[in-house]
Amino acid sequence: MTGVYAVAEYASYLVVNVSSPNTPGLRELQAREDLLELLGAVIRARSECEKKPPLLVKMAPDLSDEDMSDLVEVALATKIDGIIVANTTIDRPASLLGKNKVETGGLSGEPLFEMSTQILRDMYQKTNGDIPLIGVGGVSNGEQAYAKIKAGASLIQLYSAMIYHGPGLAVAIATELAGLLIQDGYKSISDAVGADHR
Ligand SMILES: Cc1cc2nc3c(=O)[nH]c(=O)nc-3n(C[C@H](O)[C@H](O)[C@H](O)COP(=O)(O)O)c2cc1C
Repeated sequence: MTGVYAVAEYASYLVVNVSSPNTPGLRELQAREDLLELLGAVIRARSECEKKPPLLVKMAPDLSDEDMSDLVEVALATKIDGIIVANTTIDRPASLLGKNKVETGGLSGEPLFEMSTQILRDMYQKTNGDIPLIGVGGVSNGEQAYAKIKAGASLIQLYSAMIYHGPGLAVAIATELAGLLIQDGYKSISDAVGADHR
């Protein structure tokens, strides 16, 4: 667990990313027994470090319902600090029109938004809101961030939209989000987390 020892002192959080479609065999580590073993080793390594950053798992959006339930069981049993929902997809939605849609690898950005938000909603239901979820996939504005929060996200992660809009995007999203929360009568983001389920 060399990586944990190396970064624990400096990291705000640690992510066990077992969901990249670009590394052959990596996603198999999401299976129950493998994930239990891997997280157990990371948690042991972290316990030996002076600083103990929160530990998250990043999941693929392409898991079966059964695999998602297994992941939730492992996450709750190991008491990790959160699940990032989700990485890029190997799926190719019918809405894709470009000639590159036949390329292999992970698909990110706008076409991932609906799919990843539905998975987030499912994960919130499976976890009963007992573990923080980080919503990621196709977010490029405050409305989309808000949709993820209402589906169950406590935090939002961005990747593709930063390429198109630059780092100022975070402020733009936060500003738009604040307006949407006020409009719906929420005092804070945490009051809106999982609102779709109530
Ligand atoms: C080129 C590229 C590289 C990525 N590398 C990582 C990575 O190293 N670790 C990780 O957890 N996620 C990685 N991701 C996944 C993103 O963090 C994110 O989960 C995914 O792209 C969906 O969000 P988005 O639609 O905002 O891009 C990568 C995505 C892309 C497109």
